[in-house]
Amino acid sequence: MRKPIIAGNWKMNNNPDEAVALAKALIPLVANAKAEVVLCPPFVDLVAVGAAIRGTNLQLGAQNVHWASSGAYTGEISASMLKALGVSHAIIGHSERRQYFGETDETVNQRSVAALAAGLTPIICVGESLQQREEGVTDAVVTVQTVAALKGMSAADVEKVVIAYEPIWAIGTGKTATSQDANDTIKVVRSAIAGVYGAALAEKVRIQYGGSMNAKNATELMAMPEIDGGLIGGASLKAEDFSKVVNF
Ligand code: 13P
Repeated sequence: MRKPIIAGNWKMNNNPDEAVALAKALIPLVANAKAEVVLCPPFVDLVAVGAAIRGTNLQLGAQNVHWASSGAYTGEISASMLKALGVSHAIIGHSERRQYFGETDETVNQRSVAALAAGLTPIICVGESLQQREEGVTDAVVTVQTVAALKGMSAADVEKVVIAYEPIWAIGTGKTATSQDANDTIKVVRSAIAGVYGAALAEKVRIQYGGSMNAKNATELMAMPEIDGGLIGGASLKAEDFSKVVNF
């Protein structure tokens, strides 16, 4: 019932020329994808990548979005600005932003609400650190993050949201969560949504896995009943590898 969604988070990689070359290489490789496919290049590449993928099945995502529509927020980008460029998705609350740039559950919520109001689909990231996993508080952590991120949203808005469960210890480390662990924690995220909005709505929300997902492990991860897609870092930077994930 839930359409899979695979997003490539290019992080701080590729200048506009490199970004266009990667997007163009991808187009034929993913043309028949069953999943929704979203490319999230750096802000400065959005215009060029948007032009390169126009008319294809690829969609454009940003890696962040500010909560205000305009104003004195040096270095930030608003949802309406992104929308005007043809952006449809925005990653929000990535663990790297939480860890290095002071992102909090509250700002994740504010950014997500603003994204929805402008017609963008937020891809909201949640996930535990290695220490939290070892302390056995993973379920509590992702529950708190999920409920906080969705605070104040209508049911209609929550239905549009995509959640990415990314255990921090699996990001860029080559250590993937086992498909069973990923599935179990995603089930906890879904229960957290159900706790506020009811089970029927929670069943409609797409929840991705992220963290060293690649051409080799995508098939197994995507076969799990709770996993509705992937948020791909390193493996999204090579067209061949990313296409294998997309065509899982
Ligand atoms: P890697 O796929 O490089 O582990 O990164 C995952 C991630 O952070 C995607 O947002």
